[in-house]
Amino acid sequence: MQISVRTGDIEREAVDLAILAQIEDQPLPDAIATLLEPDDFRAKAGQAVLLYPRGALAARRLLLLGMGKAEALDVDAVRRVAALAAQKTQELKLESFTLALPNSSNLPLAQIGQAFAEGAELGLYRYLRYKTDNNAPTEVTSATLLVADAPDVVTTGVAVGQAVAAGVALARDLANGPGNAITPTVLGEVALDLAQRYGFQATVLDKAQLTAQGFHGILAVGQGSAQEPRFIVLEHGHAAEGVPTICLVGKGITFDTGGISIKPAEKMDDMKMDMGGAAAVLGTMQALGELKLPLHVIGIICSAENMPSSTAYKPGDIIKTLSGKTIEVLNTDAEGRIVLADGLFYAQRYQPSAIIDLATLTGAMMVALGPFATGMMGNNQPLAELLVAAGEASGERVWQLPLWDEYRDMMKSDIADLKNTGGRFGGAITAGGFLSAFVGEWPWMHLDIAGTAWVERPSRPYMAKGATGVGVRLLVELLRSYSQN
Ligand code: BES
Ligand code: MN
Ligand code: ZN
Repeated sequence: MQISVRTGDIEREAVDLAILAQIEDQPLPDAIATLLEPDDFRAKAGQAVLLYPRGALAARRLLLLGMGKAEALDVDAVRRVAALAAQKTQELKLESFTLALPNSSNLPLAQIGQAFAEGAELGLYRYLRYKTDNNAPTEVTSATLLVADAPDVVTTGVAVGQAVAAGVALARDLANGPGNAITPTVLGEVALDLAQRYGFQATVLDKAQLTAQGFHGILAVGQGSAQEPRFIVLEHGHAAEGVPTICLVGKGITFDTGGISIKPAEKMDDMKMDMGGAAAVLGTMQALGELKLPLHVIGIICSAENMPSSTAYKPGDIIKTLSGKTIEVLNTDAEGRIVLADGLFYAQRYQPSAIIDLATLTGAMMVALGPFATGMMGNNQPLAELLVAAGEASGERVWQLPLWDEYRDMMKSDIADLKNTGGRFGGAITAGGFLSAFVGEWPWMHLDIAGTAWVERPSRPYMAKGATGVGVRLLVELLRSYSQN
């Protein structure tokens, strides 16, 4: 979508569709107020009224969109209203819209532009790759944002928002993609394609290389599948004085049957999204390449398919991971932590300022927080606070849980260094306790996106049923905060 920003007056726009985003209980411009009964549009959040001014205004159609109360007006309200605007435009089978935001907001101008672009682009996202009927919805090709002043500043935000939205769309496409299409091999190819486009250094290790180099966590999880596992590394920038090195580690289980500890049939199809962490890493790397942030960022993906078969790993098996630490497998469905063990240990070689892993790791985290926040734990409070702040700013909220020694102790095995399950209670945290054994003393936070990577009922107009691409907006926000200090 082409997005332009300029100053202007919505009443004078001679366009097919003019949209006024309005704050609750604030007066409408006179020329508009006379077109409707005041009680019919109070500008409650999400309210929409379409008017045909018939010459009373320059525009052929006027859409009023409510943004809710002034006190509640934040950047996410801009994201939401932009998504609604784009969707209404598409429903009307129009290709463009012109939207005016309320003048009275105190939000930073660049953030307004970013949120507008994210909302407008993501509001139109749909996964249609496998629809063969040719009823493609109208493509909304252009949007104009009218602002009170400084359109150039808002425009810089629009460019950021578009890069972020494209990264989110990539992550959604990958996580919505079925398990027969999105295999570990394919994730490796996607990574190589990004490397080519943005000049990243890339390493994709195949099964023979994983074996030679001792990645026995990833190998064990993948050994029951005809699909070969992959370990993927993308590197943006270089280690340099004063440049932070940040490792992003994604769980890339392209399908999680549970393995020999097999899952119930109901909803097992959703487990094609068990590579949502890997998708977020790839989407973030793409956005980073677009934005050319002056950082050293390493995207690491641990990818395998978790299948039951005669070659599959089994309960009771003991695995020697890349770190040398041994894991007793009590449940083959707790596979994410096993592949991440290798990836987190590998990340230490970069002597990073931060390691952040993203994983659809536990059903327990879904139970704890539901779909409205990503659960977080780790060993570094300043990093935790940066992530919480990035969560607020990006609208991808993060909530921290404790990671006391008692939780780590629950993961000790009688006969190996660790076991891969810690019992029923505190299951999201004991999973984090397990991971902590593989990061050494490096600053590290774990993001469990099991509840946020996939939505049955979208709670925001810029989300669609299915994959959310969660993590991309959050991580780009975090990385931008690093690059601005
Ligand atoms: N991929 C699942 C977690 C998951 C569940 C993600 C639902 C998204 C939605 C993970 O591999 C898993 O199976 N975890 C087990 C761990 C248990 C066996 C200790 C779980 O949460 O049940
Ligand atoms: Mn599992
Ligand atoms: Zn899994």
